[in-house]
Amino acid sequence: MKTSILYATMTGHSKKIALEIARELNISAYNIKENPQIDSCDLLLIVSGIYGGQCKQELLEFVKHLNGTQVKSAALITSSMKKVTQKAIREVLTSNGIEVKEEEYLCQGGFLFMGLSHPNKDEIAGAVEFAKKYIVD
Ligand SMILES: Cc1cc2nc3c(=O)[nH]c(=O)nc-3n(C[C@H](O)[C@H](O)[C@H](O)COP(=O)(O)O)c2cc1C
Repeated sequence: MKTSILYATMTGHSKKIALEIARELNISAYNIKENPQIDSCDLLLIVSGIYGGQCKQELLEFVKHLNGTQVKSAALITSSMKKVTQKAIREVLTSNGIEVKEEEYLCQGGFLFMGLSHPNKDEIAGAVEFAKKYIVD
């Protein structure tokens, strides 16, 4: 089973989560900023923060170009202050024929002086466990 990770970050939390999952699963993590080429995969993990209630526009634009032939399924890992979901990303992926796992891992983030210690070790470990659930040999 081929698994990849795509992440979008502004303040580094999503990168931290994505790199830890990549390390644990021994797979590649791609930063949306580098406009990566996503090869065919069975599972794409998408890690992102939420800004003004939304995910990053560049992530939304990027996933519009993914389809179900290239990416069979996706799972969303989201960090925000208020446990906001990546609703728009889910909708685009689903309408492009990609199965999106129903459960989304919501991880506490931080902003300025609020939630400074998040995501913490346990929350990052939780994201790793969430990702592992979908890995089948
Ligand atoms: C400019 C900005 C806007 C944000 N807006 C929201 C928001 O609307 N709702 C929310 O729950 N969290 C919001 N947050 C908190 C982030 O979603 C949270 O800190 C997340 O972990 C950031 O991920 P990142 O470090 O990968 O960029 C905002 C953070 C920043 C920097």
